[in-house]
Amino acid sequence: MTIFDHPDFDDHETVVFARDRQTGLRAAIAIHSTELGPAVGGCRVWTYESEAEGLRDVLRLSRGMTFKNAAAGLPLGGGKAVIMLAPGQRKTPELMRAFGRAVDRLNGAYITAEDVGVSPEDMEEVRSQSRHVTGLSQGELASGDPSPVTARGVFDSLQTGVRHVMGRDDLQGLRVAVQGLGHVGWQLCDHLHRAGAALIVTDLDTWRMADAAERWGAATVAPAHIHAQDCDVFAPCALGGILNRETLPQLRARLIVGAANNQLAEEALATDLHRMGIVLLPDFIVNAGGIMNAAAEIEGQRAEIFIEDKLSGLQRQLATILSRSDQEDSPPLQIAMEIVRDRLRASPKG
Ligand code: NAI
Repeated sequence: MTIFDHPDFDDHETVVFARDRQTGLRAAIAIHSTELGPAVGGCRVWTYESEAEGLRDVLRLSRGMTFKNAAAGLPLGGGKAVIMLAPGQRKTPELMRAFGRAVDRLNGAYITAEDVGVSPEDMEEVRSQSRHVTGLSQGELASGDPSPVTARGVFDSLQTGVRHVMGRDDLQGLRVAVQGLGHVGWQLCDHLHRAGAALIVTDLDTWRMADAAERWGAATVAPAHIHAQDCDVFAPCALGGILNRETLPQLRARLIVGAANNQLAEEALATDLHRMGIVLLPDFIVNAGGIMNAAAEIEGQRAEIFIEDKLSGLQRQLATILSRSDQEDSPPLQIAMEIVRDRLRASPKG
């Protein structure tokens, strides 16, 4: 497997693979940039179809973290880790501790946190081997599960998007299709329901769908059909790649706002969406709440004030991106990336 000519290699500073025979750990850690500070990003535990798929994920996700942290105005770089489980292999405390030792060998260039498949308890195991961990569940400044703040950020972004695209301040009766009822998707639905939106939901777990139908009167559809629903807003909150050449022509929403990282299978599709008149809000802005939560812990600040301040700053930034997108007739993603690149260039190391 090649790295330097890998299509998703983007001058990453460091890419390391970690193996521990005893616990069965197979992990990859990618540090995309430490331009603005130590690279911070979650650790994903997943059963990938192949090692190549895991590598692709870590390269793309770590780059996304550079953009996310810079866009959020945080003094942090971008990194990410993936633990690649073999088919049938289970996550164990020993496995997480072996991962912790791999993180520790990087001496703080990478600070890890939760991502899909990882709990605050898992992070405690990692923490027992390395202090370069955030998202802890104990301690005075422990930020714990980041998903409530992520969901709040997605909800706020959805409101900003609706204001811009539909010219309305309320969400009453707005039809929102939510893909994924996990930590973030579930709480997003709760916010949306309280704001009066009508929900269409899906998940691989049919029990969650049944719960959502009972709790919020949500309409439920099979996972394969969620993107094609007749709705105002599509909120991808599962895994990446839902916006691809096959799904794009079937989209009916005018606005796409969701927590999932890398919703676009290929970045070039942002231009296609823009031409179709569909507004896709950049994932790294929409889902930055979680990293703000972790940043408060890293910076040693009390979360409430720090997060409120950063979240409202993010919405102002999103509003600016959307008006520039109109003025320059360019996808919001492109504008957001330009802003981040300017910020990176202006850094002392840039
Ligand atoms: P989660 O693992 O708790 O939930 C994901 C849900 O999506 C699960 O219920 C799963 O069954 C469902 N799912 C997976 N594939 C699906 C498919 N094809 N169709 C329908 N449902 C599907 O993950 P979480 O924490 O809610 O995160 C969701 C997304 O947001 C992920 O992409 C994650 O990387 C991203 N994100 C999460 C943050 C957080 O604070 N948790 C922060 C930033 C990004």
